[in-house]
Amino acid sequence: MNTREPAQQNIEDLSRSLLYDGRIHRFQSSTLHTVAAICNSWIAEHPLDLDIFDSASNKIYLQHLNTLRHLVSGSHEIYDTLLEALSTLGWPLDSVFTDRVRFRCIPASFQNHPQARALLCWHRDTYYANAACQLNLWIPLSQCNRKNGIVFFPDLLDTPLQNDSHRFDLQEWNSQGGFQAYRESSNGEVSGTGLTYPSATDPPDPRSGFIPDIGPGEGLIFASRHLHGTMPNTSGQNRYSLELRFCTRRDLEAADEKLNVDNGSRGCFASEFKNAATGEVCPEDLWKRYEQKTRSGS
Ligand SMILES: [Fe+2]
Repeated sequence: MNTREPAQQNIEDLSRSLLYDGRIHRFQSSTLHTVAAICNSWIAEHPLDLDIFDSASNKIYLQHLNTLRHLVSGSHEIYDTLLEALSTLGWPLDSVFTDRVRFRCIPASFQNHPQARALLCWHRDTYYANAACQLNLWIPLSQCNRKNGIVFFPDLLDTPLQNDSHRFDLQEWNSQGGFQAYRESSNGEVSGTGLTYPSATDPPDPRSGFIPDIGPGEGLIFASRHLHGTMPNTSGQNRYSLELRFCTRRDLEAADEKLNVDNGSRGCFASEFKNAATGEVCPEDLWKRYEQKTRSGS
């Protein structure tokens, strides 16, 4: 007999299909328009539509980007709105551990820029020590399509791929500034990450991927273990998005090694996640056990 409540059953079914079947769940919410409006007002104050191919403009671009990342990750209003979206979809917040909200800018023609082209990288988030049971809430702030969007390769969800994730160590990565690194030296020089981004070393043709046509007011939730990436931005404009990565307590406890098909990175990003209801850091015994049980060593 199934004694679970229908709502609990529904969210467990959704979680299973996201993690195990590679479902990419699309939803709408009017509150996401509010989030987009907040971000757009900040972008207007700290413009990013600058010529990144000009070194002086690029320096200002990186400074503004750094400011915007901090504004977004420090905003309780944005975090609470994204949690509300998860809660409305059925996730009990006390059973969820999340990262902070991350703001991303994909500059126009970034693929032609010697440093920015590192963003052109087909990867699973597991390659960066993200838990294989991690789900990503992805919120477009711009209209996204084949000219600038996010691309998935659902057919490769469970197919081991050659990759260089064995070069990734979370401790080392964080010591270099992490995902949203920004450095300004005493002489005023700024740079992006300068870090190596692990990726599939023999990637498929991105044109064969699934590229959702999606815009503000909508969101995606997907398994971060999907092979995915960013299309070259040929739209002529910057593309903006937000991301909130999360894991459920249940999936961390289950520590299903089958979800980890080809990752060789070291560390567990869930160690930095916080409980969505209480703000408590993910318990060390939970993430350490997860890391030990799911490490593939490939
Ligand atoms: Fe990713």
